[in-house]
Amino acid sequence: MVKAIRMSRTGGPEVMEYVDVEVGAPGPGEATVRHEAIGLNFIDVYFRTGLYPQPLPGGLGQEGAGIVEAVGEGVSHVRVGDRVAYAGRPNGAYAQARNMPASLLVKLPDAIGSDTAAAMMLQGMTVQYLFHSAAPLKAGDTILFHAAAGGVGLIACQWARALGVNLIGTAGSDEKVALALQHGAAHAINYNAENFTERVREITGGKGVSTVFDSIGKDTFIGSLDCLQPRGMMVSFGNASGPVANFSLGELASRGSLFLTRPALGNYTATRADLEACAQSLFDVVARGDVKIEIKQRYNLADVAQAHRDLEARRTTGSTILLP
Ligand SMILES: NC(=O)c1ccc[n+]([C@@H]2O[C@H](COP(=O)([O-])OP(=O)(O)OC[C@H]3O[C@@H](n4cnc5c(N)ncnc54)[C@H](OP(=O)(O)O)[C@@H]3O)[C@@H](O)[C@H]2O)c1
Repeated sequence: MVKAIRMSRTGGPEVMEYVDVEVGAPGPGEATVRHEAIGLNFIDVYFRTGLYPQPLPGGLGQEGAGIVEAVGEGVSHVRVGDRVAYAGRPNGAYAQARNMPASLLVKLPDAIGSDTAAAMMLQGMTVQYLFHSAAPLKAGDTILFHAAAGGVGLIACQWARALGVNLIGTAGSDEKVALALQHGAAHAINYNAENFTERVREITGGKGVSTVFDSIGKDTFIGSLDCLQPRGMMVSFGNASGPVANFSLGELASRGSLFLTRPALGNYTATRADLEACAQSLFDVVARGDVKIEIKQRYNLADVAQAHRDLEARRTTGSTILLP
């Protein structure tokens, strides 16, 4: 038996129960991973509240790092004793150990510890596919990136600096603005104190940015479109403030033939080759020191409800891990 989080209904942090579960032998194509650290991500909140549906009762969590304890039939690319990490479904990472589809496991280089791996696989591979595949960036580009002091955000600030991209970040307090700037944002705007659209126009001399990365959703969507140059790219990749309401496609035309995409990590790492390339690219920027993974909060797995409260109340910065 291991300790794990299970929920039988959607709702507030209180629906997450810390219980004993049996892991059992891994099935065909699966591996049993004993977690050393677990990643906390905003997507976990969407599943907990029911914004993203899943069968219940069920587990939560999409990111972990640890040691392979057993492998099922047909698994050859990882072996018992390997250090591995993963990001993605099925939910269930909030556990001391679990069975996981082995196809999602990536072997960890010696230089990357389990805490760092659990903090970076989901958020770091997200920045990788956003900047290199969903809306490929080049040196000299000027972009807007919301929630720049968050988990994805601090990685994005550093990765943009390494690419020579001018990242204009937004964040919800002056302290968070300072943090984004320290991590490589060229400019940062406190969007609770200032109108970010007007500030982006000022900073860019009226021109606007070529790409917006918007994970806030409802509260920022239209303002973000207003920050774009004609034929600019809107990447709407999250809904921290709630999902974007229906809008008319004419909104894209009237602002200058804008592009819009709503990407998800799983579609950019769906093949083994794509997953390995994405993870390797992340390992490389971390190994070079271009991106430092900032674990700003650690909680015991048993205290995950408090971790969710802090994340939703915008009290966290950088990445957060849960310790099993
Ligand atoms: N599509 C994908 O592939 C993908 C993958 C990974 C993550 N994401 C998305 O990327 C975003 C960041 O994820 P993360 O795990 O790194 O979280 P995070 O950025 O560390 O935390 C979310 C941040 O969003 C900001 N925020 C703005 N309005 C908010 C509201 N009403 N409620 C709560 N927070 C609000 C807060 O920063 P301020 O106080 O500075 O505003 C908060 O700290 C999430 O929306 C997530 O779903 C998408």
